Amino acid sequence: MTSERYWTRVTRTENIPPQEGRSVTIGGMELAIFNLGDRFATIENQCPHKGGPLCDGIVSSTVVVCPLHGWRFDLNTGLAVRASLPACVTTFPTRVEDGIVLVDVGHGSRIEPEEAVA
Ligand code: FES
Repeated sequence: MTSERYWTRVTRTENIPPQEGRSVTIGGMELAIFNLGDRFATIENQCPHKGGPLCDGIVSSTVVVCPLHGWRFDLNTGLAVRASLPACVTTFPTRVEDGIVLVDVGHGSRIEPEEAVA
């Protein structure tokens, strides 16, 4: 992984309505990008429980609910919220420039649940 930022232009902001997500594949990774109203957030699209498509989950504030069994993930940290088991997904830096959503897939970060407890 390089420390240099490499932003991938993904889509125009209006293509993802507020409080919704969309899936996109970049560099072989399937990601879920969410419009949180005042900003966008990106996580890996596959739920760590049984692979549910997180892009299809209901978004409330900064939490997405997996459409298959209801695990909830914080879109800021990637950590599961009150799941029956510790779990997390990778988050990716995301920004908007000139109405385009950009994602840096080379700088994904993952907080393992044990780290969050410390
Ligand atoms: S696959 Fe996401 S909660 Fe089961």
